[in-house]
Amino acid sequence: MSQIRLAARMGRIQPSVTLALTARAKALAAQGHDVIALTAGEPDFDTPLNIRESAAARLLKGGSVGRYTPASGLPELRKAVAAKFKRDNGLTYAAEEVMVSCGGKHCCFNLIAALIEDGDEVIIPAPYWVSYPEMVRFFGGKPVIVDTSSTGFVLTPEALKAAITPRTRLLIVNSPGNPTGAVWSTDAQRKLASVLQGTDICVLSDEIYEKLVYDGEHVSFAALSDNAFARTVTINGVAKAYAMTGWRIGYAAGEKRLIEAMGALQSHSTSNPTTIAQYATLDALAKDPDELQGWRKQYRARRDAIVAGLNATAGVKCATPGGAFYVFPDFRAWVGKRHGDFVLIDCTAICEALLTKALVAGVPGGEFGAPGFVRFSYAASDEQLANAVKRIQQFATELA
Ligand SMILES: Cc1ncc(COP(=O)(O)O)c(C=O)c1O
Repeated sequence: MSQIRLAARMGRIQPSVTLALTARAKALAAQGHDVIALTAGEPDFDTPLNIRESAAARLLKGGSVGRYTPASGLPELRKAVAAKFKRDNGLTYAAEEVMVSCGGKHCCFNLIAALIEDGDEVIIPAPYWVSYPEMVRFFGGKPVIVDTSSTGFVLTPEALKAAITPRTRLLIVNSPGNPTGAVWSTDAQRKLASVLQGTDICVLSDEIYEKLVYDGEHVSFAALSDNAFARTVTINGVAKAYAMTGWRIGYAAGEKRLIEAMGALQSHSTSNPTTIAQYATLDALAKDPDELQGWRKQYRARRDAIVAGLNATAGVKCATPGGAFYVFPDFRAWVGKRHGDFVLIDCTAICEALLTKALVAGVPGGEFGAPGFVRFSYAASDEQLANAVKRIQQFATELA
């Protein structure tokens, strides 16, 4: 028996079911099955060629690309991020109010680590990105989950007000959102900002899907008012916008003291994000890549096709998301039915049966705090999406 005793805090987090399902989909594919995996949270496009070429040239030149940078990022990149926030979001940050980390996820981790103490409450609208409650619990905080599935996946001011207690430290806003793709309007966000007025609650505004909006427009929470600006940390990155998930660069901006605290933590954990990836981000932020417009068009067409296909499937209801690259259909009408040997007791069972029998992989909504739903990513080819819909429709006809 192992003599190693894990820290008690490790008992507060769980490995991701998404990864387990993705692994099963891969194992089935390795056995020769024609699996369509719609589980991934990443673009199916290559990083734009000019960014890759510029990075290759820098690497060949050598020198500072092989060296450390300051822990919170290259000074010129922090300046470029501040300029991006000004240009795209109307937000005025000084370079010292910006830091660069190893992905948007790392920014969230640094922020929650810097803010949350034992028993602090964090309001997380559900459906939520899986990592938020896990990070909060890891640092001893208490996720306060507020269901938005009956209000169009948008947090209402009434629901926010009801969730606030004297222990509330942080509200998480994620628009466009994962897993729903919902885009929160300026008006909806302004109402939330009004509820927060007079409190000392911080806001983590995760805007990683900012560039992938098809209906409505993206608005940064910090841009709503001076009061909202003062309480918000704006988090973004290159992963989803520029098809750069593997480069691992995200950035955060907010009050200098808080950013410095996050920087201090980073200086004792990862140190700087990979230097060449920081240089590649400088290229990405100089101007939106030409490819982005075309990608958006393709995502939009794929979204329309998969939403139509799912809504034409018996028992499935799918809202049209305004952004990101996910659909989040409601499969609750399937719960309790059977497919051959499979009893569909919940959305995890639905996903297992869909993977085994229809060879289509999605992620159960329970993972995101929304049982009865399934997340499908449409960052996949038109042909894969059309076939996936056909298979799900066929599966639906076989339910008893
Ligand atoms: C809502 C949300 N925030 C942050 C991230 C993390 O992005 P990054 O790859 O930059 O760490 C993801 C990735 O799936 C996400 O969906």
